[in-house]
Amino acid sequence: MRQKIVAGNWKMNNGKNETKSLINDLKSSIKDLPLDNTRVIVSPSYVNLTIANEAAENSKIEVVAQNMHQEKSGAYTGEISADMLKSIDVNTVILGHSERREYFGEDDELLATKLNTALANDMEVIFCIGEKLEERKLDNYLLEVGSQIRNGLFHIKDADWQNIIIAYEPVWAIGTGETATPEQAQEMHSFIRNAIAKRYSKEIADNVSILYGGSVKPANAKEIFSQPDVDGGLVGGASLKAEDFTAIIKAI
Ligand code: G3P
Repeated sequence: MRQKIVAGNWKMNNGKNETKSLINDLKSSIKDLPLDNTRVIVSPSYVNLTIANEAAENSKIEVVAQNMHQEKSGAYTGEISADMLKSIDVNTVILGHSERREYFGEDDELLATKLNTALANDMEVIFCIGEKLEERKLDNYLLEVGSQIRNGLFHIKDADWQNIIIAYEPVWAIGTGETATPEQAQEMHSFIRNAIAKRYSKEIADNVSILYGGSVKPANAKEIFSQPDVDGGLVGGASLKAEDFTAIIKAI
């Protein structure tokens, strides 16, 4: 049975103290929730990963990285490797977020290489895909997302899918308050799941958690999460407030 997941992408926010207090607040607000088949994930920036892991100790909260470099080591100023993340007990990484694609030119080929590095290091990957507003308006959104999953993911082996979580984040919904409707989310999630089933198998497709991201808020989470192929959310802004993030977790 595929897992329900609520993940918070903190992006470039919070210093050491804010990280500690946000995780401590979250710990206390979720400690009595029935979260047997649900994972709660936070993704602070690199400098706060260790402090976040320490604060999250003995709780349901998992700490993951927002990115990583594809090389093992070397002259890549400012970059972080898989080994470095694993050395601080971070074993899951977000790859392909639209902000990485947009601002840092991360294309399908580079992301496939990063994915290979993560899988070769036994890391779990939250792989982000999503169309731009233009592609949605021109009705090319299924084509675009289909291309992203084919070019980014469809070279991996069957067994690798146990380490893959997919996050569908329509770019036009990220940080805009313009959330996809539950029907739009379901259409895309079902499309993604069917594409995996066709390329691999129904069994593999049925076991992949597919998260929705893009202006998930306490007010809209329940309706989005109630869709049959939506297995949770990748939350940005609302994950920076323990009360809002907890309300979204309660909606799963
Ligand atoms: O990765 C999640 C993020 O891109 C969504 O951001 O602020 O629209 O929830 P937000």
